[in-house]
Amino acid sequence: MKKAILFALATSFVGTAVFANESAKTGDATKGKTLSAVCAACHGADGNSSNPDWPKLAGQGEAYIVKQLHDFREDKRAEATMTPMAKGIATDEDVLHLAAYFSSQKQTGGTANKDKVAAGEKIYRGGIMASGVAACSGCHGPTGMGNPPAKYPRISGQHAKYIAKQLKAFRSGSRTNDPGKMMRNIAAKMSDAEIEAVAEYIAGLHD
Ligand code: HEC
Ligand code: HEC
Repeated sequence: MKKAILFALATSFVGTAVFANESAKTGDATKGKTLSAVCAACHGADGNSSNPDWPKLAGQGEAYIVKQLHDFREDKRAEATMTPMAKGIATDEDVLHLAAYFSSQKQTGGTANKDKVAAGEKIYRGGIMASGVAACSGCHGPTGMGNPPAKYPRISGQHAKYIAKQLKAFRSGSRTNDPGKMMRNIAAKMSDAEIEAVAEYIAGLHD
């Protein structure tokens, strides 16, 4: 009898510990909002930056944001403006809170340059047969919402200028934090014109 009670107590403690750990892993959006004041100057108070040099973070997958912040903190992704910002975040817990906050915000969407949309859509949905570029929709989804658990980022509604910059960074090898070279292998086979067309199409995509 006593043993059974002890066992029940022990398992309930284990249960609580696992639960506490899980909730810590997802961060607290309210705490994140307070911490985000320093990020707002570039990314916007709600993560919808108005300057195309600074990516929108609103509605981005939480696990993807966490990964990027760790990659900047650990020099696996480098950029002169953002690296010091990521390193300035006090703790790994604060990283989780910030990710929870920006992920919970609603993205405002964007507009595309109409002249390039048709060519961009072809690449996005069908890839480029001749050079063996895979369809973007295969990983980023038919509406560009990504695959949050797999850390495939949302790209729909993102600034075209930022999208093109990242594709060129993967192509030149200045961004190397994509697991299994998933993006480097794709961008390596793309021309400037193809990058610009697909970036325009993505900017106008919405869910
Ligand atoms: C002074 C401007 C500036 C500030 C302030 C700033 N960032 Fe950034 N951030 C950038 C730039 C520029 C990039 C794009 C870097 C690149 O081109 O690779 C970026 C990229 C990011 C990314 C990667 C986005 C993606 O789609 O891959 C995340 C996440 C991020 N910032 C979070 C934050 C957080 C959280 C804060 C506040 C602690 C913050 N940033 C403060 C300029 C800024
Ligand atoms: C095999 C899966 C896969 C395919 C296909 C794919 N991507 Fe990606 N993409 C990824 C992953 C994974 C990342 C995130 C890498 C990381 O963790 O930093 C990414 C990141 C990106 C980013 C950077 C986003 C940001 O916020 O910084 C852009 C832009 C992008 N992909 C565009 C494209 C385009 C355009 C295509 C089609 C030509 C494409 N991707 C095809 C998996 C894929």
